[in-house]
Amino acid sequence: MTPSMDQAADSSTGKTVSQWSGASREQAVQRMFTAIAARYDLNNSLLSFGLHHRWKALAASHIPVHTHGRALDLGAGTGDLALLLDGRMGPQGRVAAMDLNFAMLRFGVEKIGRRGLASRIACFRGNAERIGFRDDTFDAVTTGFCIRNVGDRPQAFREIHRVLKPGGRFVCLEFSRPGCAWLRRVYDWYSFRLLPAIGTWVAGDHTDVYRYLPESIRAFPDQDQLAALLREAGFARVDYHNLNGGIVAIHVAVK
Ligand SMILES: C[S@@+](CC[C@H](N)C(=O)[O-])C[C@H]1O[C@@H](n2cnc3c(N)ncnc32)[C@H](O)[C@@H]1O
Repeated sequence: MTPSMDQAADSSTGKTVSQWSGASREQAVQRMFTAIAARYDLNNSLLSFGLHHRWKALAASHIPVHTHGRALDLGAGTGDLALLLDGRMGPQGRVAAMDLNFAMLRFGVEKIGRRGLASRIACFRGNAERIGFRDDTFDAVTTGFCIRNVGDRPQAFREIHRVLKPGGRFVCLEFSRPGCAWLRRVYDWYSFRLLPAIGTWVAGDHTDVYRYLPESIRAFPDQDQLAALLREAGFARVDYHNLNGGIVAIHVAVK
């Protein structure tokens, strides 16, 4: 069996990426996303059969429409969710798009520029575990497929709760656990066999990101566990919506 990115990268420590913490985990995540940034959008569309656009639009639809709202998209990557979020913040609205990785953000900056929205959507480099904004700043915070890669998720959720205004909403779009056994089997076959082969070939990547992807999904808390983490971080109301049988879930949490 080909070693996974986790297994391949851990020869000196005997640890997997999911077990790494702090700087080493951050560096591993950085390497992965730098390696695939140029082909990220293409791979996303191929590997999700175009569904990621629908998932993101549904996630954004959980954010109420504002007239002069302030929103933050964490792990913004190439900017899709930040662009959708902009549509909900109103004519005077502003969006901050934050990501750990410069290579991913660069493509986001270009995409936002092409849509003529650079004056409304500001891109920042930053870590979801240490959000450099004041308490009670945002009406809405979103993350799309980012939180799975964050080392200290409870800390990230506390930070998100801190920067939201009271009554503000956090929407978390992430891979999750399919509800029925047959779908889990088909999905496991697809994600552990087909997806790494296609993803690695398209991205021309040598860091095995597309092997890390299914492993990180499997290691990630399921719908109820994630909802419990959000409640522990202080969110008063937490709800989730399964998409495509639970392959993906949208968690909505209110401060
Ligand atoms: C799978 S991509 C998702 C990009 C985009 N949100 C989307 O849905 O297409 C995950 C992104 O999260 C970023 N990321 C990972 N860990 C992060 C962290 N601790 N803080 C901020 N961004 C992070 C990565 O650099 C990457 O751009």
